[in-house]
Amino acid sequence: MMDVTERADVERILADPAYSVPEADAAATRPADRFRARVSRFANGALHDARRRRIEALLDHLDVDALATGATARTRAMAHVGDNADAVAAHVPVACLAEQLGFAEPDALPRLVAVLAEHYPVGGPSDAADAALVRLLAAAPQSGRGEERDDSVLRVQLLVQAHAATAALIVGALRLPSAADAVVPTPDLLASVLRETPPVRTTRRIAPDGEQLVLQLGGRDGDASSGRPRMLAFGAGQRACPAPRHALAIAAAVVDGLRPC
Ligand code: HEM
Repeated sequence: MMDVTERADVERILADPAYSVPEADAAATRPADRFRARVSRFANGALHDARRRRIEALLDHLDVDALATGATARTRAMAHVGDNADAVAAHVPVACLAEQLGFAEPDALPRLVAVLAEHYPVGGPSDAADAALVRLLAAAPQSGRGEERDDSVLRVQLLVQAHAATAALIVGALRLPSAADAVVPTPDLLASVLRETPPVRTTRRIAPDGEQLVLQLGGRDGDASSGRPRMLAFGAGQRACPAPRHALAIAAAVVDGLRPC
């Protein structure tokens, strides 16, 4: 596997559709592996494009202000957790999204999502991930019929994608020394984390010649003359994160609620 660290190279590769993502096993039979084979993240070409369009439609229906309001209320409700920012960051974003996406019992879901999220990047046999997936699909609102018309899988994908990245952004912002300084606005804290220590550190691609690449999203900015460092925290190109607005709205609400000042 080759590591690509120069941000300009990473950006160029992410924007080039000739570089593909490692695909999930389409013949998988276990529930959590089957899930990986039905999401956008591990599909290429027309399959990816079709799932991506459905994901964007789901996200378009979400009210970003309502997500932020929900995040503020849930963060307040977890005040008893004291300074345990990790627990709040792991719970609130997923619960808010689950509520807006129409899941039943949204506050029961973050711990299931955490189990499935651990399995998600590479897959493999996992009874715990299988059980979590089954429960998450049961909690999803039912829509359409047949595998490709059923958006339940993609709704669960949204929760899984949001889980670790949004939590890492929140915790990263709160750990900055400047978080204790009331004059530093929360969006500046978030921007600093995204630029310097992106929550998703790496992603993988396969080059047209078959070589496996590990792309560093927070790598070096070789071209200093270009002024501002490139920000690749949400990826780039056709597979870039479709939800930066949602992520930032939720993260800002949680960080605001947890800042000591
Ligand atoms: C700080 C929070 C987040 C960060 C830093 C982040 C980052 C990323 C990155 C880098 C990718 C692209 C991976 C690649 O190119 O291989 C990605 C993809 C994705 N993200 Fe996010 N994400 C965040 C939050 C969210 C949230 C809240 C959601 C859902 C509401 C979400 C949904 C997705 C989806 C569905 C994809 C796959 C897109 C596709 O297959 O075309 N992300 N994210």
